[in-house]
Amino acid sequence: MAETLPHSMLPRANHDELAGQQFVQTMKMHVSSQITAGNHKIYDHVARPKFEKEHKRSPSTRHEVRHLMEAEPYHQMWGSLMRLGQELMWDTIIDSVDRQLDDLITRSQPKRPRGSLTLDPNFQQPRYLAAVDQHAQPGSYYTDTCDDDVRAGAVLDRGASIYHFGRAGGNGMEGRGRTLVQFLYEKYPDLNPKTILDIGCSVGASTVPLAMFFPKAKVFGVDPGAPLLRYAHGRAEALGVPIHYAQQSGEDLKFDDESLDLVVSLVMLHETSTKALPRIMSECYRLLKPGGVVVHLEVPVRYKHMPSLMEQTLRDWQTYYNDEPFWGRVCETDLVGALGAAGFRNVFEGYQRQTLDPRRGVSGFTKVADSRPGHWYVAAGTKK
Ligand SMILES: C[S@@+](CC[C@H](N)C(=O)[O-])C[C@H]1O[C@@H](n2cnc3c(N)ncnc32)[C@H](O)[C@@H]1O
Repeated sequence: MAETLPHSMLPRANHDELAGQQFVQTMKMHVSSQITAGNHKIYDHVARPKFEKEHKRSPSTRHEVRHLMEAEPYHQMWGSLMRLGQELMWDTIIDSVDRQLDDLITRSQPKRPRGSLTLDPNFQQPRYLAAVDQHAQPGSYYTDTCDDDVRAGAVLDRGASIYHFGRAGGNGMEGRGRTLVQFLYEKYPDLNPKTILDIGCSVGASTVPLAMFFPKAKVFGVDPGAPLLRYAHGRAEALGVPIHYAQQSGEDLKFDDESLDLVVSLVMLHETSTKALPRIMSECYRLLKPGGVVVHLEVPVRYKHMPSLMEQTLRDWQTYYNDEPFWGRVCETDLVGALGAAGFRNVFEGYQRQTLDPRRGVSGFTKVADSRPGHWYVAAGTKK
């Protein structure tokens, strides 16, 4: 089982907890690698022929395919196992985190921090976050179960490698941030940002690599979730990386106009709404200095790059059964167009191969859609 960086904020699993967590990861991997593929056979040999006989045409949207497949017992079994794996994952981790929560809270409050934490007691969660428990995590990102709570953050940090079957970079979730650094090295070799903002930073798993690979920059991370940010603060301090965390929404950022050199988000946009997305793009534009760079790294793959309606339907399980209601919508949104509409220039998109070891001069970018594990979608642009 892949581990997160062994920093002193990380919740520890005892023997039985670890056994439970390893079981869930193995089960999720088995469903993904052995059971998922059977959906294609059922579609090709049962569901689609039935539809074609009745309608004298093939299904033409992923929504038609989903409705067809929802009637098939194999697909129902697959979907139930997917959901069960998700619920079991949170159960095994939450029990373990709750056992050590007091200790984690103490550890999240270092005496001499190098970074900072600013929470807003009047912060209103955006409705698209408050309305669901994102990816079925009980209490989602923002619920406080006690004073100074860090539970949601601890659960996410511990759960990351299970959630990604140990593929999100070996060190839990760091693969995303390191991959973004590789993208920046490759596409903006002269970029030497003095100020960086990570929108939707969660526990800082991507903010930390950004700060480590641009050590002269002042790095900020914002997120609506207070328990995530408290944990992120303790985590960054435990790793010895100064980061300034604040409770803010990407729709309304409390930074001055033209005050930042680099603004990024990583797998954040698919958790926002259709209305929020252009507001976030405009905020990124407002905050960047002329010549500044924006990069949004997102879940692979854009549906326009994925012709198989059945593949789209399998991805769309997230939208309909894993409490990620905007997943499908964002996968079909034209993010290049959205960046252009916000005013950005030199806008482009592509796929960046995941790396844990960013190096200047190494290429991991491709324009061609790549849905293999370990590739991330990126859309980027510059201000003037
Ligand atoms: C999947 S997590 C991202 C994790 C993190 N960026 C990383 O790479 O490890 C998505 C995050 O986006 C945050 N988010 C959602 N809507 C947001 C908004 N309007 N402004 C800022 N953050 C938001 C959520 O609270 C959540 O922590």
